[in-house]
Amino acid sequence: MSRTVRPACAADAGLLVAIDASVNIHPWNAQQFAAACGGASLNKQCAMVVEEGGRIDGFVVFSQVLDEASIYSIGVHSAQQRKGLGHLLLHAALLKMKEAGATRCFLEVRQSNAVARRLYEGNGFELDGIRKSYYPTEGGREDALLMSRCL
Ligand SMILES: CC(C)(COP(=O)(O)OP(=O)(O)OC[C@H]1O[C@@H](n2cnc3c(N)ncnc32)[C@H](O)[C@@H]1OP(=O)(O)O)[C@@H](O)C(=O)NCCC(=O)NCCS
Repeated sequence: MSRTVRPACAADAGLLVAIDASVNIHPWNAQQFAAACGGASLNKQCAMVVEEGGRIDGFVVFSQVLDEASIYSIGVHSAQQRKGLGHLLLHAALLKMKEAGATRCFLEVRQSNAVARRLYEGNGFELDGIRKSYYPTEGGREDALLMSRCL
């Protein structure tokens, strides 16, 4: 069965909430996903999903204003990780931004998130700076790495 990446629709939002809650320590809530699914959000967030045989395995959420794009969230169901879906979702989002006229893509990632950093670095993102103690953790705070790449 082949995998496809497509824009998320309103009916997908509940599943994305569930996937995010299962893989992210600080997941988004239902309103945030509802706003990103179907393109009705005020800040023009847009979600895409990867599916195989009707089963949604992951998502990416991004936005674009003029020539600048930002990736807000990416998540793959734990049973489907390490199969290239993160790469697939990221490629699809970067292509969509580029086609819509963006020339640079920005994101933030927790310093401790080695897997996500590997995904981003492997796809050309470079470190621009560090936001000290930006994210809450169980034991305190941790830095956010600010990364970007040309499109
Ligand atoms: C980050 C995430 C989306 C990657 O999804 P994925 O489908 O597993 O990623 P891929 O299979 O495309 O692999 C991406 C890279 O990460 C590596 N990787 C994936 N899981 C890994 C693991 N558990 N340990 C070490 N490396 C891992 C892969 O080897 C690959 O690197 P490579 O191209 O150099 O070989 C997924 O791990 C996830 O949902 N994490 C929780 C949510 C999260 O942290 N999101 C990012 C917030 S900024």
